[in-house]
Amino acid sequence: MRVALGVGGGIAAYKAAELARALQERGAAVQVIMTDAAREFVTPLTFAALTGKKVITSLFAQGGGDVLASAVEHIHVAQNHDALLVAPATADLLAKFAHGLAGDFLTATYLAFTGRVILAPAMNTNMWQHPATQANLATLRARGHTIIEPDAGLLACGTTGPGRLAEPERIADEVVRLLTARHDLDGETLLLTAGPTQEALDPVRYITNRSSGKMGYALASAAARRGARVILVSGPTHLPPPPGVELIRVRTAVEMRDAVMSHLEPATIVIKSAAVADYHVKEVPQQKTKKTAARWTIDLDPTPDILAEVGRNKGGRLLVGFAAETQNLVAEGRRKLETKNCDMVVANLVSQEGTGFESDENEVVLVMRAAGNVALPRNSKSAIAEQILDQVLKLRLALHEAS
Ligand code: CTP
Repeated sequence: MRVALGVGGGIAAYKAAELARALQERGAAVQVIMTDAAREFVTPLTFAALTGKKVITSLFAQGGGDVLASAVEHIHVAQNHDALLVAPATADLLAKFAHGLAGDFLTATYLAFTGRVILAPAMNTNMWQHPATQANLATLRARGHTIIEPDAGLLACGTTGPGRLAEPERIADEVVRLLTARHDLDGETLLLTAGPTQEALDPVRYITNRSSGKMGYALASAAARRGARVILVSGPTHLPPPPGVELIRVRTAVEMRDAVMSHLEPATIVIKSAAVADYHVKEVPQQKTKKTAARWTIDLDPTPDILAEVGRNKGGRLLVGFAAETQNLVAEGRRKLETKNCDMVVANLVSQEGTGFESDENEVVLVMRAAGNVALPRNSKSAIAEQILDQVLKLRLALHEAS
């Protein structure tokens, strides 16, 4: 694992030293590149001592070095590293990357780099939330780069909010995870659903549920990283599109059903993590319902059960359902597994503090058709996603062997 670590000019630059060490502890060879601004905060000597390597600070040779070698050194660095990690990635660097400015070593290396780009931003909360920064981030995400979101907390400038560089250990773990991704889902096509659905009551009102879509998006990202073609049918969420995934946005259960059935054909694995509304108004009124003194009673019809329909048309596919429960987790998971013809049901308790719908963490039981249940203890949704895919792959291989 060879990591080019770009250090930007921000208060958090000193944390990049800790990051360089954390990466080396995980087996990475680290080449540090500093911007001029970064050198106002930390000296190159700190990084040189930590990594045992010369720190790159300029596009041009200093002190009469080999001028030609120096002029193409950014190309050499770009070609010889698996990842370009920038931490802290300042608002200025994000803007330069997004727009392709290449006036110094780090930005020129970025343009010449074809490997994985990982950006860990850190800045004042207002700078982070500014539409210009958010637009640059959207551009960079759309390019398939990984953004390691800053933490929220008290910042050096005295404000409180998002903007603090993610913990160096967390960044190092993420880099290792991205660089050591297996390609064990090569050749598979995953059809995934995620998020809630929204069911209109009239042109301005709707019913929905608390699903954030985070679990399904984590599954989509992980599966794409592991080599699968991923088709993600998503209800309304606030999440950025996962890199490398075909995203189909829908609003209602009926739209989700139509999108799933029309993309079922190429799918080898179907994972239904969406929290589909169970009821809807079949004929939505054309006009807004006006307020009166009388009670408003709404007549709801059941929505199509998409998972059950896929279960009836399963063919040789592997089918995974989700069960969000407030009690009788495993029993309910098994009931859904049987009635909807699934191979596995991911059952999670949604009443629990800190796990389930809106949280970044989860704790689930995998209820299996053939094998025993597997309990996955509390972990980040991205780690749970990897573990779910590990089990899916085991079932898939067993299916292959049986056929
Ligand atoms: N599901 C679906 N279509 C629906 C409702 C649910 O495809 N109309 C899928 C979900 O995506 C999930 C699984 O069925 O994978 C279980 O969803 P859940 O809401 O927990 O179960 P229900 O079938 O609605 O059962 P209950 O309301 O009894 O819990």
